[in-house]
Amino acid sequence: MRKKFVAGNWKMNLTVDEAYKLASEIIHMYDSEVLNKTYLVLAPPFVHLSAVRHLMKSHPMMYLAAQNLHEKDSGAYTGEISGPMLRSVGCDFVIIGHSERRQLFQEDHITLAHKVDAALRSGLRPIFCVGETLEEREQGHATHVVTRQLKDSLFFLRAEQFRKVMIAYEPVWAIGTGKVATPEEAQAMHAHIRNQIRKKYDEGSVADEAILLYGGSVKPDNAASLFDQPDIDGALVGGASLVSRDFIEIIKATGE
Ligand code: PGA
Repeated sequence: MRKKFVAGNWKMNLTVDEAYKLASEIIHMYDSEVLNKTYLVLAPPFVHLSAVRHLMKSHPMMYLAAQNLHEKDSGAYTGEISGPMLRSVGCDFVIIGHSERRQLFQEDHITLAHKVDAALRSGLRPIFCVGETLEEREQGHATHVVTRQLKDSLFFLRAEQFRKVMIAYEPVWAIGTGKVATPEEAQAMHAHIRNQIRKKYDEGSVADEAILLYGGSVKPDNAASLFDQPDIDGALVGGASLVSRDFIEIIKATGE
């Protein structure tokens, strides 16, 4: 049985006091409601990472994630944050390839491959996002687009490196729009992704063990039907991760 993961991507939200309050509430509810079977991942903005790490302590079911990193380890890159820096504040994961980074910051597949490499080099586990736009889906290109994203930025890895990667399927048309993929649409793409992994890394149990998250307007009322699908191992949650009760209800929907 694969473990379930629910990750909260706070994006560019919250002041430090607000972040501290939200993380405290989530951690308190997770512990007091004994949700100890699903891993919880929080991805606050860079400036809040240390505060959130401090609250998590070294809880065995909680992980800290960054939302981005630079592909170089250090140097004259004003304003950027590197993998070794993220490790030094206690990050475990880093989100790479989010559609907002691809679209708003022009991160192409070569940059993303370098970022994946940089993350692994620093001991960070990538949460690598893939997903098609509405236009690509309507033209029937969704699986082709996702396959390319996997091949272009992940499948250069060796199997033992790939095992560290978690994939989040986030259809771009479902992010922040309130439009969620149906459980059947999401399951079909997750099965496709797992098959691609199986084709690439046929040895051992790489594909069977890969953690595949769904993301895009996940809310307390649609989470359970997504988590019922055999190839969906959890969620990457944006908006609903900013409301402690909603985020906890999504974790509960994994079937604790
Ligand atoms: P959303 O965001 O849950 O607000 O749609 C998901 C994401 O961008 O990871």
